[in-house]
Amino acid sequence: MAGNWKMFKTAQQTREYLREFLPLVETVEGREIVICPPYPSLPAAVEMTAPSKVGVGGQNLHWVAEGAYTGEVSAQMLAAAGCRWVIIGHSERRQYFGETDENVRKKTEAAIEAGLTPIVCVGETLDQREAGLTEEVLLTQFAGGMKGLNPDHFARVTVAYEPVWAIGTGKTATPEMAEEAHRIIRRQAELHYGGAAAAGLRILYGGSVKPGNAPALMAKADIDGVLVGGASLDAKDFAQIVKA
Ligand code: 13P
Repeated sequence: MAGNWKMFKTAQQTREYLREFLPLVETVEGREIVICPPYPSLPAAVEMTAPSKVGVGGQNLHWVAEGAYTGEVSAQMLAAAGCRWVIIGHSERRQYFGETDENVRKKTEAAIEAGLTPIVCVGETLDQREAGLTEEVLLTQFAGGMKGLNPDHFARVTVAYEPVWAIGTGKTATPEMAEEAHRIIRRQAELHYGGAAAAGLRILYGGSVKPGNAPALMAKADIDGVLVGGASLDAKDFAQIVKA
């Protein structure tokens, strides 16, 4: 159950949020909970969540460990800051910052080598869905972003299916639509890495997840968790989703 805060919340707002959120999820069992704040808020998040089971992740990384790459942050730096997770290939990165499948694969490798768990995002746009290209897009993104990983590395990957048309629009994929896409992704995992790897792969759904629709999504066999944007910014809403 992961919250992608995108470009929201200063360090002080992060502390205020966690003072409210942590007690609400203290007794939750059998769920991994992760929040992904912006870089400057990571130290506050790591410090506040240290006594809890809530994990912290970055929202992006560069695949090189260090170097002259102004504005970038490496996997090693995220790990050293106390992150255990990182989101890779989010559609906003693909759309606004030229993220390619090739970059996604390099970032995924770098994250795993630094000991982070990558949450690799895939998903089709509205035009692609309406043109009947959803499966093809998912296959291309899977092939480009994950197929080259060795089996040990693939076992460390979490995938997030985020239909672009459902992000921040209030339009959620129906549980059936999400389930169908998740099955396509799991089939790809099986094809390339075998049945055990596919069964063990965690696939999160993202796109306008709210307390009201989370239970129906979570009830689907192939939906193993959610990646929540807007609703994760509210401590009560995200706590309710975590318990869905
Ligand atoms: P919303 O939940 O705001 O639609 O965002 C989803 C998302 O992009 C999570 O990564």
